[in-house]
Amino acid sequence: MSFDLSVISNKNIIVAVTGGIAAYKSAILVRRLKDYGFNVRVVMTHGAQAFITPLTFQALSGNPVHTELLDPEAEAGMGHIELARWADLVLVAPTSCDTLAKFAAGLADDLLSTLYLATKAPVWVAPAMNQQMWAAKATQRNLATLVEDGVHVVMPEAGAQACGDVGLGRMPEPEDLARQVKDYFHKAQRAIAEKFGLLASKHVVITAGPTREAIDPVRYISNHSTGKMGFALAAACYAAGARVTLIAGPVSLDTPNGVRRINVSSAVQMLEHSMQMLEEGCDIFIATAAVADYRVAEVAEHKIKKAGNELNVSLIKNPDIVATIAQQQKRPFMVGFAAETRNVEEYAAGKLIAKKLDMIACNDVSRNDIGFASDENAMIVFFAEQYHLQKRELEKASKQEIAQQLVEAVADALHQNATVS
Ligand code: C5P
Repeated sequence: MSFDLSVISNKNIIVAVTGGIAAYKSAILVRRLKDYGFNVRVVMTHGAQAFITPLTFQALSGNPVHTELLDPEAEAGMGHIELARWADLVLVAPTSCDTLAKFAAGLADDLLSTLYLATKAPVWVAPAMNQQMWAAKATQRNLATLVEDGVHVVMPEAGAQACGDVGLGRMPEPEDLARQVKDYFHKAQRAIAEKFGLLASKHVVITAGPTREAIDPVRYISNHSTGKMGFALAAACYAAGARVTLIAGPVSLDTPNGVRRINVSSAVQMLEHSMQMLEEGCDIFIATAAVADYRVAEVAEHKIKKAGNELNVSLIKNPDIVATIAQQQKRPFMVGFAAETRNVEEYAAGKLIAKKLDMIACNDVSRNDIGFASDENAMIVFFAEQYHLQKRELEKASKQEIAQQLVEAVADALHQNATVS
């Protein structure tokens, strides 16, 4: 089982809006939740409609807004019971004093209070009210009851209030609320992946991007690697429940969610950090980095001055990172990559043996529709003989999809190994 933490598009959120001036923030809240990919439906109390119209939320959520408990039309489409079942989370924002009291007392005299009682989904309340009303004993008593009943309270913030008072009672900013909802689903998904994911309890170390070999303090030798494949693999391994460390050369990509990133520049630095990871304990090592084969023998201390028609720079061989790790006694499962322009399969199979890898993924970089800077890739995967696994041809697909298939290939080989030994 594998999980894509970026996909929350199948999650259904009900944003319930109650009567309070903070209702204007709920419009942005709905917008942000939609941006994250959630399905959103809005429920409004009568009080809320005095502050903002259902039409606003209909436009922002892309769904009809629900306002009435006893509405024959709505009941035929999506009445309170269907809404209660549809929701993966009910976020009441803002939550008025009155709604808190209704929830605490178990009243069911309007759509929202009925929905609250009828849903099995987690309910979050974001109280927003005048600071004196917030501090009132009855409000605090109701709040304590709700916490006891398992409701999650998003605490109000302190500050200037619309009524002119200063104190606790402001609804948190909608961007913040939306982020909390997203994090909640990511956390829940991660917890499942850590237990049941294809790479659960594994530490995966991935090298990615190019290396940069200095010539002098301002110049260097490098290549066109963008690091996209390595970063996509890091995300896929994390989604499959692994702990992931990404040793990245200089690239301009955001670190995937949950992944530990170590930035390096040269091949020697990349090797140093890779060896450190081995000491820390590493189960799977995936080498996607386009490591420079050579580095400058003697890096000039000062900027080399322009002089004459020729400049000779002497180069020496860089260490082969993946082969070095593969030679260690307590070695992880080793995955290499090969980018070739001809005899792709033959060269890749040769590298698998020469570098003592367990698996190699190769692509034909002479095809200009895939590879390096492209968002897509197509690969052939070979396994070392002892796994008794057939080669796999991964059809042209996004690097995310290819990464997912590579994770499955690694998991299959590990499983095979466990079964054989
Ligand atoms: O030998 P070649 O560069 O084609 O091998 C590619 C594989 O070896 C990739 O997995 C790459 O990350 C790894 N490699 C390495 N250190 C090097 C050169 C390549 O880890 N110095």
